[in-house]
Amino acid sequence: MKATVLAHPNIALVKYWGKRDDALILPHQSSLSLTLSPLSVTTTVEFGVPTDAVELNGHVAKGSERERVLRLLESVRAQAGDKSLGPAKVVSRGDFPMAAGLASSAAGFAALAVAGRAAAGLPRDTKAESILARLGSGSACRSVQGGFCEWQRGERPDGDDSFAVQRFDAAHWPELRMVVAILDRGEKDVKSRDGMKQAVETSPYYAAWVKDAEAEVPRAREYIARRDLQALGEMCERNAWRMHSTSLAADPPLCYLNAATVGLIHHLREHRKKGVPVWFTLDAGPNPVLLTDAANEVAAEALARACGALDVIRCVPGGDATLKSEHLF
Ligand code: PMV
Repeated sequence: MKATVLAHPNIALVKYWGKRDDALILPHQSSLSLTLSPLSVTTTVEFGVPTDAVELNGHVAKGSERERVLRLLESVRAQAGDKSLGPAKVVSRGDFPMAAGLASSAAGFAALAVAGRAAAGLPRDTKAESILARLGSGSACRSVQGGFCEWQRGERPDGDDSFAVQRFDAAHWPELRMVVAILDRGEKDVKSRDGMKQAVETSPYYAAWVKDAEAEVPRAREYIARRDLQALGEMCERNAWRMHSTSLAADPPLCYLNAATVGLIHHLREHRKKGVPVWFTLDAGPNPVLLTDAANEVAAEALARACGALDVIRCVPGGDATLKSEHLF
């Protein structure tokens, strides 16, 4: 009745930006990401305790945070067809700065989905786990498996065909590096959830975004297949720019970049002109993630530091969410 899982966050190379169904978290378009190691979140779930209890990073979860966790476990009970599993205790801990704009929620909900099913006695099933994780946070469905995962948007209104599949495992491209440049540690003003809704509802460019992002996914797959860093880097940048352009065109406009972000991007372009193979991507926050290879990760870190990075985290392709024998309680 107790299970513990470690999962890694992921960074989208083709972003997910906008839901067609808010309750089921169904996206308008497909997306593709890379799982990041060594960053991780570990979560223990136990059913059959006296009352529900949720602890995230040393704090008792309250309000909507607690509700999202308990709602996901309600779906575990439904999948297990067993309402008698009883209340659940959840303890979750991440090993990276939560306010850094990295999607800690992706690793957290992926770990919760896999641990929840295991604690309910269900067998490992990456499709079912990915669908469960998606109900916690969309991007979490891409953290159940390692390497390069593609979240297929699906067509069905019940979301049963909207989950992530692994296209290439972490060993496919071990020299690939993602360097996270933390320029700002503050909480962002507009959460992804709210920002994407605003873009869907008010941006005149939104339909173009959906069409373009969907078309980029098979291209990204091709570039990854042939380990073409330049083609993938260029695609990553244009996809990030297009997500941000769609958002800048929303009403009211959404600007996630700050002055340091723009400074770093210009600096990065100068480096590239001098032959350093480095590109960026940017989620809904000011902290860019630099895409490069093992031979250039030190140069990428130096570039980020020269542009005022408060912290830099060097990442490699990460593995699957895995069951652990040591529990958090
Ligand atoms: O899954 P959410 O609700 O945290 O949204 C993630 C949105 C982006 O990080 C901007 C893009 C993505 O695909 O991860």
